[in-house]
Amino acid sequence: MKQQERWQLSGSGAESYERFQVPSVFEPLARIFLAHVPLHPGDRMLDVACGTGIVARLAVPTVGITGRVAGVDLNAGMLDVAKRQSPPDEAEIDWRQGDAAALPFLDESFDIVFCQQGLQFFPDKLRALQEMRRVLAPGGRLALCIWRTIEHSPCNLAISTALARHIDAEAAARMQAPHALGDATVLRTLIGDAGFGRVEIHEATVTRRMLPPEQAIPGHLASTPVGPDVAALDDATRKALIDDIAADLGPYRDADGLAIPQGTHIVLAKKPDA
Ligand SMILES: C[S@@+](CC[C@H](N)C(=O)[O-])C[C@H]1O[C@@H](n2cnc3c(N)ncnc32)[C@H](O)[C@@H]1O
Repeated sequence: MKQQERWQLSGSGAESYERFQVPSVFEPLARIFLAHVPLHPGDRMLDVACGTGIVARLAVPTVGITGRVAGVDLNAGMLDVAKRQSPPDEAEIDWRQGDAAALPFLDESFDIVFCQQGLQFFPDKLRALQEMRRVLAPGGRLALCIWRTIEHSPCNLAISTALARHIDAEAAARMQAPHALGDATVLRTLIGDAGFGRVEIHEATVTRRMLPPEQAIPGHLASTPVGPDVAALDDATRKALIDDIAADLGPYRDADGLAIPQGTHIVLAKKPDA
């Protein structure tokens, strides 16, 4: 897999992710995602590529103490931040470090597997989906949330365009990676090939809320994989980069800062009954 297709944060990136990305977009997105997916008390749920754990944390009150909530991610720094966030009630979340292509769980041990904005970054997507199918009980449910193509994301489009201008094409491509699986036809085929049935693909839009661009963009960039590249720029180039992004995001200004739409697919599918 090419480096620019990865979405990995190092250093303080995980803290920045929890501080900037989660409140501005991943928590509102997780609420929209969970509203599409029937989740019941007693369900055993797994959050694959859980990051700092927002989907798992929001699921806890619904599954309750008779259920189980687990989260797995490749990045130990993201999991460290996840562990430091208190669950909203007494239930414990089982956080594990591991690769989506080799999930560290027994066969048929979950009723539902969630994956919010993770699948597009896995080097072997089919293998990861087969692993999700393996850990699901017969009749178990798959719930994926995956960004649509970058035209449906004015924020990432503005950043990617400015990176191409002020850094290079490789940095620009890294901001396009979240949208690499944005085509619904490709997604449907992949999920079918992994052995899931009853595939439903819904379109949804989350509003990314940010402070005015001059305040928001430096922290936002630090919470993405291009953060170190931006930090390495000289002051004048960094200012020009931020000014260009702010100009492109002008149409999304409101009284509180920025309100930027971002389109996603929400996929529901089922592992066949035994
Ligand atoms: C954009 S973040 C989404 C995190 C979280 N689901 C959320 O909604 O906030 C993508 C996550 O995928 C994880 N990831 C990337 N490749 C992975 C792999 N092969 N196995 C497990 N996790 C992976 C990254 O470490 C990162 O935490």
